Amino acid sequence: MQNTRAYISAIGMYVPEKRVTNDDLAELVNTSDEWIRERTGIGERRVVADGECNSDLSAKAIENCLANSGVSAEEIDLIIIPTVTPDMAFPSTACLVQEKLGAKKAWGFDLSGACSGFLFALATGAQFVQTGTHKKVVVVGTDVMTSIIDPQDRATCVLFGDGAGAVLLEPTEDEGIGFLDFLLRADGSGGKYLHMPAGGSKNPASHETVDKRMHYVHQDGRTVFKFAVKYLTEVTLEILRRNGRVPEDLSLFVPHQANLRIIKSTAARLKLREDQIAVNIERYANTTAATIPISLFESYSNGRLKKGDLVVLASFGAGFTWGSVLLRWGI
Ligand code: ACO
Repeated sequence: MQNTRAYISAIGMYVPEKRVTNDDLAELVNTSDEWIRERTGIGERRVVADGECNSDLSAKAIENCLANSGVSAEEIDLIIIPTVTPDMAFPSTACLVQEKLGAKKAWGFDLSGACSGFLFALATGAQFVQTGTHKKVVVVGTDVMTSIIDPQDRATCVLFGDGAGAVLLEPTEDEGIGFLDFLLRADGSGGKYLHMPAGGSKNPASHETVDKRMHYVHQDGRTVFKFAVKYLTEVTLEILRRNGRVPEDLSLFVPHQANLRIIKSTAARLKLREDQIAVNIERYANTTAATIPISLFESYSNGRLKKGDLVVLASFGAGFTWGSVLLRWGI
């Protein structure tokens, strides 16, 4: 690795104002607060207002992030938006956000990594910083999951919410902070277990795709659950092992927030103490690319993260995709 490291120099988040509780959902589908809490740990989720879209959430999260730094939008070199719910197929949400922010010199692109998208984008952004070609890279994990969830399917509509979390990546010469390692994986044979079948070139939108509810998330929840625990555990142990560390060394483990039982099963296998784990799924549900940056933001804001802390971020999602990032917190 080069002498120049990338580090997270600022962080921000944005969630829509509207709260939807489990009781609210129980009025729409055959479910209950008790079932949802017991099986998922979710209590409520945020949902966009009419007309509010990904680029709105992304821009607000970035504005919050920049307000916590000394950096202006005009100084940003690159905007990367991991998401499965862009405003539209093209132009990229990154271009729409660049315009909203007035980030005149930035280029940007969207990245499709589902729930692992934020980690894939962090790894990508860090490379641009570490090569020295870019000084200020923004990664904003944003998803408007309610735009692709079937409101009549109780098995999926209770699981997801909308939100955005943004980080600014900058170079540092300080060896005590920054990204230490990335471990990223994909296995396309898992694609069939969690996907949105229509809307792309394979099944373009038609009356038939709409009638068959193919523009919504379809998943085999039990299979996803099983692989999530297995791979989150493996990828965390592996990145620690190859850096000469063990789970006990971690100040904070920040897993993707898909289901509290997935998080607890993974943490038990890693033998982590409760105070080592970031959990906020109760308030936001699964916001896909946004869960990790939102958890990081809250952990930092409430004083759980301090400069120099050893942290693992870990994700699992559609693809299948999964990965881990080892870093020393830098702010
Ligand atoms: N309310 C009440 N009952 C429900 C609900 C609901 N919201 N949803 C499903 N059920 C019922 C089912 O119909 C089923 O009833 P049946 O036995 O009469 O057929 C029963 O509950 C059990 O269903 P299971 O699917 O076996 O329930 P399980 O305990 O596996 O929990 C869940 C389902 C919560 C979806 C779980 O499998 C899970 O969390 N899987 C992981 C899914 C996930 O996290 N996906 C996203 C991760 S990756 C990413 O973030 C993109």
